[in-house]
Amino acid sequence: MEDKLDVWNLKEEDYPVDGKPEERLKFLLRYAILAPSGPNSQPWKLRLEGETISVLADFKRALPHVDPDNRTLYMSNGCLITNLLVAAEHFGFGYDIKYLPDGADEERIALIRFQEDGKAKRFPDLFEMITRRHTNRMPYEARAIEPKKLGILKRDAKEPGFRLGILTDENGKITMSNLLARAHKIQLGNKAFRKELASWIRANNSPEKDGLPGYSFGYTDFESYFGQFIFGTFDMSGSRARVETAYMRASPAVGVLFTEAEDKLNWIMAGIVLEKIFLAATKMDIRFDLFSQPVAIPELRKEMAEAVNARYPQILIRMGYAKSARHTPRRPVEEVLVH
Ligand SMILES: Cc1cc2nc3c(=O)[nH]c(=O)nc-3n(C[C@H](O)[C@H](O)[C@H](O)COP(=O)(O)O)c2cc1C
Repeated sequence: MEDKLDVWNLKEEDYPVDGKPEERLKFLLRYAILAPSGPNSQPWKLRLEGETISVLADFKRALPHVDPDNRTLYMSNGCLITNLLVAAEHFGFGYDIKYLPDGADEERIALIRFQEDGKAKRFPDLFEMITRRHTNRMPYEARAIEPKKLGILKRDAKEPGFRLGILTDENGKITMSNLLARAHKIQLGNKAFRKELASWIRANNSPEKDGLPGYSFGYTDFESYFGQFIFGTFDMSGSRARVETAYMRASPAVGVLFTEAEDKLNWIMAGIVLEKIFLAATKMDIRFDLFSQPVAIPELRKEMAEAVNARYPQILIRMGYAKSARHTPRRPVEEVLVH
């Protein structure tokens, strides 16, 4: 039987060097679909026509209670675009990209035309990080992240209208962890919210190729059988907040990725920048744990913005050093291709 984690075992040697452009581009899609997405919903569809790839939002995978504006859905598609372009640059493709080519309310997120002989590189060489990157929800070592490395992350996030704010002081970490705890209380106290989120929680040995296996939260196989039921039935905000705020306070740094403007295009771009710094962090052995929660609640988002002197916070990131964690499943390319 095909294993749900097989998608991660990619070999660069399998790239069909002499294949038609369409075959070679299809190979790149194997890297694209390894992108992170809010509760691993993988809200994307891909269309491959000759030398063109369309990235489409899969609104059937939207989460109306957890992500009412679809911010996370758009950001997740941005993450996929980064993986695709990093892989394309690695294999020598150039490209022209149009965002929201059919208008902001249509499903097409990007239209990318590829050409041979790409010379201009937009990304640092992060190709090998695509298969190593993962979200890490375990506690991090107390050791500080070297200022030089934090500087690299800030530099990589710096696109026009985008910034990464990093807090390493005690007060900053306390402020962010308090916001996270308050967000949990509001959201997990809401039955519709937690039922929707719980529907993406999976037993460790579930064959499903999406969602959050219990092991990504540190659950044993036994615990993971009950994860969906417990999470969906009871208000677990207190215990989740206790664990996550403790981990956040003990971590060497927290980051807030923020933008100057707020619309679908900015969410896509925020996803592109997020995955770029996620891969850059992976290269420096820095782990990330992501939190959309406080961003989704307007009054908490406002406090968050004030704490980092930002306009529109898009995501909160816990950062630090830790051993690698296990990958989570993905639907293979064949399951997300549409014609
Ligand atoms: C835009 C975005 C928002 C996310 N928000 C959260 C979050 O609020 N809480 C969380 O635990 N993980 C969050 N994640 C991490 C995903 O759950 C994770 O990427 C997914 O489960 C796949 O796992 P992987 O990153 O290890 O490949 C987010 C990821 C993305 C791309």
